[in-house]
Amino acid sequence: MSQPILEIQGLQVALPTGADRAHAVDGVSLSIAPGRTLCVVGESGSGKSVMSTTVMGLLPRELRVAGGGIALKGESLLQATPARLRALRGQAMGMVFQEPMTALNPVMSCGDQVDELLRTHTDWPALKRRQAVLDMFARVKLPDPQRMVRSYPHQLSGGQRQRIVIAMAVILKPALLICDEPTTALDVTTQREILALIKQLQEEQGSAVLFITHDMGVVADIADEVLVMHKGCAVEQGTRDDVLFRPQADYSRMLLSAVPSITPPLPRPAPSGASLLRGESVSKTYTAHDWMGRARQHRALEAASVAVRAGETVGIVGESGSGKSTLARCLMRLIDPTEGQVFWGGAEVARLPEGRLRPLRNRVQVVFQDPNRSLNPRLRIGEALI
Ligand SMILES: Nc1ncnc2c1ncn2[C@@H]1O[C@H](COP(=O)(O)OP(=O)(O)OP(=O)(O)O)[C@@H](O)[C@H]1O
Ligand SMILES: [Mg+2]
Repeated sequence: MSQPILEIQGLQVALPTGADRAHAVDGVSLSIAPGRTLCVVGESGSGKSVMSTTVMGLLPRELRVAGGGIALKGESLLQATPARLRALRGQAMGMVFQEPMTALNPVMSCGDQVDELLRTHTDWPALKRRQAVLDMFARVKLPDPQRMVRSYPHQLSGGQRQRIVIAMAVILKPALLICDEPTTALDVTTQREILALIKQLQEEQGSAVLFITHDMGVVADIADEVLVMHKGCAVEQGTRDDVLFRPQADYSRMLLSAVPSITPPLPRPAPSGASLLRGESVSKTYTAHDWMGRARQHRALEAASVAVRAGETVGIVGESGSGKSTLARCLMRLIDPTEGQVFWGGAEVARLPEGRLRPLRNRVQVVFQDPNRSLNPRLRIGEALI
């Protein structure tokens, strides 16, 4: 049998003292052969992300490897120098992080970020690099690659940002690709295209893929092997069909039985009464300036109307980049709609200045797509809640 691309032996990663358990990862072993995909599943906090950042040599300072070994094509990564790890990252191993903003520089255009990666790891001339970036953006199905190259991360939708990160992880064709929930922010059509792209890259260059997901449909679709983690331990490991259809551990059985079914529950009685939140023909045009100061306009939302009454849940669905978050931000008045009206209860607030809006603000709350955007990294969680 050919040498595995990634081999992990009894890996132990210690948590700081006072944590809810001693080890974030506790004695996990795995091996991925060229061209194979291992899916890692397990509840939130089970150690999936810690295990993958350890492989990449990007473990946060508070955490420490306490035992075991990691080898990439036979080379020990735990013994590698920081310089060697930097050289391997991007080129021999690429990672798509769970939260795209942690991997992107907010003050650099998306094109420049990928270009920097190519400049560091290749001797390609500028023109070849530029073409490679545009080709890659097209391959991850980013619309209008020219605009994407010029855009800053905050000017893109969550799913578009995720695809920039995927482009960066795969552009140098790494032997090992680690994906930490890469498609959670994507609609099903884009998700299917991204998974097909990863599969294709894998076939072209025989990469090994370690894929973390909560989505059992994705596991069924792409996994060769599956590893089930619980509280830092590997509770079950086997082929896709064994784990999905003949799970042995109680925990795996519980995890699989929790998969939601597509059959909708019985409808609830329709709520009556006035709407609490309403948008009437809300439109949004973003204006960005290029390096010559020329204004470029992008129409992100076109006359959207929506109403939410007390006791009601309204779902907004649509493919990545279709304007869902822009509509929500307009309704919340986190951004100013270009046209249309927004009602909070009886009050029309679309053009209300911030000073008059503030007393009303606590009536509407938002949970963001990317939690990093609403958390202050300088505050402890407890302090942020006060
Ligand atoms: N920088 C850190 N400092 C202290 N503890 C941490 C740190 N990062 C992670 N942990 C802890 O390590 C454990 C494993 O976390 P990890 O991020 O690997 O979970 P996960 O399986 O990826 O979860 P999710 O599905 O929510 O992404 C958790 O208990 C977490 O609180
Ligand atoms: Mg995680």
